[in-house]
Amino acid sequence: MTINTPIQIGGISLKNRLIMAPLQQYAGTPDGFATKHHTEFYSRRANHVSLVIVESTAVSDSGRLFNNDIGIFTDHHIESLKKITEAVHAKQTPIFIQLSHGGRKSSPLVTQKLIAPSPIAYDEHYGSPEAMSLADIQQVAEQYRIAAKRSVIAGFDGIEIHAAHGFLIHQFLSPLSNHRIDA
Ligand SMILES: Cc1cc2nc3c(=O)[nH]c(=O)nc-3n(C[C@H](O)[C@H](O)[C@H](O)COP(=O)(O)O)c2cc1C
Repeated sequence: MTINTPIQIGGISLKNRLIMAPLQQYAGTPDGFATKHHTEFYSRRANHVSLVIVESTAVSDSGRLFNNDIGIFTDHHIESLKKITEAVHAKQTPIFIQLSHGGRKSSPLVTQKLIAPSPIAYDEHYGSPEAMSLADIQQVAEQYRIAAKRSVIAGFDGIEIHAAHGFLIHQFLSPLSNHRIDA
């Protein structure tokens, strides 16, 4: 086995072991739409790797990590993402999307209401979040579900859930940011 040995992961055949990790491009429109930059960037990477994972993509307009990241929080976002999947598929390369919610580390520039498992600020830049109610938690889960459906419509072959780097799911996993005593 070498780095060039093909591998089957579920229903996906990869031509080698080189996978492009998700990498923020900071090049989305103010409304979170992917642009020509994204299509060209990911299409070029598809020449060399066996799987492209598109950067962190917000499931909610109040969960964007940066003011210029991309999102999939409305049906309108599907079209610009579809251009990326079509360009990468044209290179016979599968493509996944990474779905994210920033929680207490959502961009203060574009977030109306900062939410987190507990009302503990990450730092002064982000400010104090509100503790999520059960209804808030259900709403975010629903936003992930709808984002996953939109991802399939946009042509993605798989989904990576962003649960690292101190963002919302990571906030639930860490006792530093999760002081909840409920379920
Ligand atoms: C500019 C930049 C943007 C990144 N964007 C993301 C991202 O959107 N999602 C993610 O999970 N990781 C992101 N990362 C982390 C990388 O995917 C990767 O895990 C990290 O650079 C460590 O990998 P390495 O040891 O191969 O450098 C980013 C890293 C950099 C430098």
